Amino acid sequence: MEKKPHFVRREFLPREVPSISLALLLAAVLLLNAFLYLYLNKFYSSLGRVETEPGLCPFGHFKFGAVKNCSPWLSCEAINREVRKLKCVGEGAVKKVFLSEWKEKKVVLSQLTNSELKEDFLHGLRMLKGLQSKHVVRLLGYCEQQFTILTEYHPLGSLRGLNETLHIPKYKGMNTWHRRLMLAIDYVSVIRYLHSSPLGTLVMCDSNDLDKVLSQYLLTSDFHVVVNDLDALPLVNRSAGRLVKCGHRELRGEFVAPEQRWPYGEDVPFEDDLMPPYDEKTDIWKIPDVSNFFLGHVEGSDIVRLHLFDIHAACKKKDPAERPSAQEVLDTYRRF
Ligand SMILES: Nc1ncnc2c1ncn2[C@@H]1O[C@H](COP(=O)(O)OP(=O)(O)O)[C@@H](O)[C@H]1O
Ligand SMILES: [Mg+2]
Repeated sequence: MEKKPHFVRREFLPREVPSISLALLLAAVLLLNAFLYLYLNKFYSSLGRVETEPGLCPFGHFKFGAVKNCSPWLSCEAINREVRKLKCVGEGAVKKVFLSEWKEKKVVLSQLTNSELKEDFLHGLRMLKGLQSKHVVRLLGYCEQQFTILTEYHPLGSLRGLNETLHIPKYKGMNTWHRRLMLAIDYVSVIRYLHSSPLGTLVMCDSNDLDKVLSQYLLTSDFHVVVNDLDALPLVNRSAGRLVKCGHRELRGEFVAPEQRWPYGEDVPFEDDLMPPYDEKTDIWKIPDVSNFFLGHVEGSDIVRLHLFDIHAACKKKDPAERPSAQEVLDTYRRF
């Protein structure tokens, strides 16, 4: 009696084990397939997402709005034929900026205003071409012969109007310390990008006062910051001993970095040839002032300021070499 079940089990096992393991094997294969399917699906769809992100068209191409395909930058002929100027929406020292229409889309046509500044204009265009990325306004076309550049239109305009924009009822909800800190993070991300760009270490020279800095950047409709005006962006090459100077005139005031000011006192008249050159750390000196503008005066912004006190004090070190890199500032901002 005792042995019977044992016997039964022994008799039962040799025939049942293969079918159970077969079923288990089948289940495992099915499960593996399911996992592989899910993983690959996720992998490909994430590739798809990257592809639809702006700035990832091949060089010389763009896409924007709902259009999925990349188109080549518009040529002189295409700009003359297909772009219609609507109204002037901005003007700086180098360009006049027109809201325009291209294929029922709003775009911006920038035209050189002062023929003495051709070189600056062409430098800005070269930079726009070489730096296309999420940090830079999208280039749609250009015509060197006519000194025109076609870019994406950003209806919220330059960062100069940030406080006014944040007081419009539609955007009041955006006027929080958190959003404002995000803008400061975006801004420092742009500086970090320029300092380690595909074209080398570039200094944002169009930045002698806060208003000037702010007018070179645009606020996108989804509240991000892109740099727009790249006309004054000289290259630093420290290993080759190449430093820069922002213009040929004397710079004064607390906004510019100490090394940008005439070092020989009031008694020695300014002379460009005697003015020592400097590097990208001038941009770091200016970060606290620009960030303070971003943070504004809303509930919580003073607490953020307090947390950023040490890194901002480091940005204001008199010796440029002691200032942090844009990456270090960014890391500190992001840790907040
Ligand atoms: N794509 C754009 N969308 C909206 N406004 C723009 C755009 N481009 C320029 N602007 C406006 O025109 C102003 C001047 O443009 P900018 O390129 O800085 O000219 P400049 O080289 O003469 O300084 C900007 O500060 C901004 O207000
Ligand atoms: Mg400008």
